Amino acid sequence: MSGNIRRIRWAILPALTIAALLLYFSLPPLPDSFPKSPPEKHSETWSSPSSHRPTTHPITSLIHDAEDAFSHLLSKETHDLASAAEAYRKARGRHPPPGFDSWYDLAKSHDVIMVEEFWDQIYDDLRPFWALPANQIRADARANNMVVNIKGGESEANTGWFWHTIWAKMIGTVSKYLPDMVVPCNAMDEPRLLVPWETINDYMQKEQQSRRLTATADATDVYHNWHKDDEDESVEATNADWKESSSMSLVPEACHPDSNARTSVGVSDGFENGTVPEHMRDGFVANYTLSTSLCHQPDLAMYHGAINQPLTASWSQKLIPLFGGSKMGVNNEILLPAPMPWSEDERFNADEGTGISWDTKEKQAVWRGTATGGRHHPTNWHQFHRHRFVYLTNGTKLRITAGDPHDKILTSNFMHAATSPLARATQDHLAEYVSYTNDVGFTDLFCDELSENGSCWYLDNDYAVVPGIPMSQQFNYAYLPDIDGNSFSGRYRAFLLSTSLPIKATIYREWHDSRLMAWKHFVPMDNRFTDYYGILEYFRGFEGLGDSEAVPGHDEAAKKIASDGKDWAEKVLRKEDMQIYVFRLLLEYARVCDDNRNNLGFVRDLKRD
Ligand SMILES: *[C@@H]1O[C@H](CO)[C@@H](O)[C@H](O)[C@H]1NC(C)=O
Ligand SMILES: *[C@@H]1O[C@H](CO)[C@@H](O)[C@H](O)[C@H]1NC(C)=O
Ligand SMILES: *[C@@H]1O[C@H](CO)[C@@H](O)[C@H](O)[C@H]1NC(C)=O
Ligand SMILES: *[C@@H]1O[C@H](CO)[C@@H](O)[C@H](O)[C@H]1NC(C)=O
Repeated sequence: MSGNIRRIRWAILPALTIAALLLYFSLPPLPDSFPKSPPEKHSETWSSPSSHRPTTHPITSLIHDAEDAFSHLLSKETHDLASAAEAYRKARGRHPPPGFDSWYDLAKSHDVIMVEEFWDQIYDDLRPFWALPANQIRADARANNMVVNIKGGESEANTGWFWHTIWAKMIGTVSKYLPDMVVPCNAMDEPRLLVPWETINDYMQKEQQSRRLTATADATDVYHNWHKDDEDESVEATNADWKESSSMSLVPEACHPDSNARTSVGVSDGFENGTVPEHMRDGFVANYTLSTSLCHQPDLAMYHGAINQPLTASWSQKLIPLFGGSKMGVNNEILLPAPMPWSEDERFNADEGTGISWDTKEKQAVWRGTATGGRHHPTNWHQFHRHRFVYLTNGTKLRITAGDPHDKILTSNFMHAATSPLARATQDHLAEYVSYTNDVGFTDLFCDELSENGSCWYLDNDYAVVPGIPMSQQFNYAYLPDIDGNSFSGRYRAFLLSTSLPIKATIYREWHDSRLMAWKHFVPMDNRFTDYYGILEYFRGFEGLGDSEAVPGHDEAAKKIASDGKDWAEKVLRKEDMQIYVFRLLLEYARVCDDNRNNLGFVRDLKRD
């Protein structure tokens, strides 16, 4: 894929530059009242037909939709064991795994909100394993060099690696309820499994066929004992055939045959010929899950360092059990809650509170981080997400862009940000607006090639190294953009728990994704950042400069998402919620690893006593 992407990239750069110039220099005046319709020149990159001009700002309607979707989700809450088991059977087509009652009791004792959808990720991850022989999964689990052993109710890591021991600690909080098993962990930051779509599809069909509600009389609740069986020794572990390659060439095979990644249509981002990505509506993210998908937007290789040039990469196309803290939608790892909240590291947790009250915050965006996100070097850094973000939040840069429109790095970065609908006043004073509303910078350039005097010759002119800001002080700012690093962003949970508003762009999935709702609990952002200025303008507004009109903001809406997100995170992202997630996950994993898996089930609620 990277070959294709590169060709496409070079083919479209001139087009991007021209488009950027058109956009920037020939934007027609907008009417002064807000909300605005998209300017005429935008109509090619604007998804709504010109006959259908939005009468409310697109973000207003996205927020409204999210409220509805969230109420609908919550209406599915169950309040007793029998209804939870019934919701389980309806959603999964099987009996719950044995141990479901103790799982339920523990969950209830921690006031866990019972909505079956909150555990969807477990089933997305584990379903294909039903197609593999149970003893094969066990052999593959044992063969992994980094495992957490659960034995006699205790949990133990077999290495001293930091994250690994923290996972063992997290699992240890529920291991007394769990049968013996071996949990193989991914030692790397990056996800590693990319099984071809056809293989997974075949496995999913087999799983579908194997689904049934076993007759109550045949159901058993005794799990296989991993540590008392010699027969397994004879099963050979799968040869995972790891491929050490930093290219993403194996991604297309893991995508649906009709996907953009597979058909090599390549650019689907709307900058080339006027189409917009399917996940966007009127310039903003309307389908967050889809916005994180690489299969439908292979052009993200131009905008994301971890796709362009991952720091480390070692891929297998075999389905083997491997637990990790994050993955891309296209990967086949089994997600565990990320270990950060269980560590005491202040980069990921803000121990000194969750921030000052909304009304006393600086109405600015703050971001600090290192220039990581992959292996950057002199010719690829401008395709890195963090570099791009720091670039387009730099007002000085925007002024230079206007003065030197032939600089293709500047224009391509700049143009992308400018495609969201902006009021005339903001457009006219964009550089000032961006300078004033952003406090963003790198704390370390992580340079690949240093000059003799220790400077980073290819980044020094473009980026200043600025002092870091402890997380608790970042919460003095209203807006918290959250950008991926070498893999997912470990600070996201702390951002959600804060009184500030997270603005999230990512290509990664985490365990909690089905319980968080975009535009209700956080603000989603496209991975190209095309919508960033539009998001800031909508929420924050613009006081105007000189004789320009002021652009009203939606401060109450921002405050509400920040506080709804915080309240919700305090209910569903607690350590207890992670424990309960891991508990359910490992019951399911133990079952699918069991030779007798088709008869293992919790049926007590169906028996009459
Ligand atoms: C250009 O737009 C058409 C739809 O108008 C779409 O089918 C085609 O895939 C687009 N081309 C690219 C390269 O995105
Ligand atoms: C988001 O896109 C996916 C994939 O196309 C689709 O299955 C899903 O229904 C969409 N979700 C919403 C809320 O539109
Ligand atoms: C370091 O060296 C680079 C290239 O050799 C030069 O451009 C830069 O000005 C130097 N920086 C300092 C602080 O001397
Ligand atoms: C902003 O851009 C200017 C001009 O390129 C650069 O000198 C400055 O270091 C940048 N600021 C930051 C915080 O990176």
